[in-house]
Amino acid sequence: MVESATAQELKRRDRGVQRVLIEEGAIQQRVRELAADLDALYGDETPLLIGVLTGAVTFMTALMREMGSELKIDFMAVSSYGDDVTSSGAVRILKDLNENIEGRSVLIVEDIVDSGLTLKYLLDVLRRRDPKDVKVVALLRKRKADAIEVQTDLVGFEIPDEFVIGYGLDYAGRYRNLPYIGVLDPQEYQGYEK
Ligand code: IMP
Repeated sequence: MVESATAQELKRRDRGVQRVLIEEGAIQQRVRELAADLDALYGDETPLLIGVLTGAVTFMTALMREMGSELKIDFMAVSSYGDDVTSSGAVRILKDLNENIEGRSVLIVEDIVDSGLTLKYLLDVLRRRDPKDVKVVALLRKRKADAIEVQTDLVGFEIPDEFVIGYGLDYAGRYRNLPYIGVLDPQEYQGYEK
């Protein structure tokens, strides 16, 4: 059945976006810079890039295509905790790596560091597996007074403490296919407290 024009408009991917925070072109440019930094960092090594599902998929695929180094990839999924927009602090593994990382150089590829709890947990888990080296690249990091201190070697953009969506990041599973990073209209959700 063909939907009416109004129904199609109601389901546009940018419905509920308050404003664009980082344009698509600016993200592409920054991803190129991060890839160049990583190429320089790894030299003739073959790092294992570990994408944190699901939000980091867009960033991971863009980043690896810009990198000239030989590399391998794997993915991990951890539980998203609390409700849709706040953190409770409890993290657990939903999907583990396929690869053994002992003695290898690994790079965690994260979409966003908010409280830092997810990243801290991942770093603890991976370090216990005796890799040669663990580094972290995050596309976004929120400027947040109460965030915990956590290793983040490379950051794409420091952003204000607002709930963002797009370029892989979701709200209730939506918005991952926006090509830019946007700020969600607070009317779209309830109960988000910074
Ligand atoms: P943290 O453990 O509080 O640092 O949060 C990390 C995870 O929470 C990210 O990998 C995202 O999946 C999710 N997250 C945190 N802030 C946002 C946001 O502003 N938009 C969408 N997802 C977010």
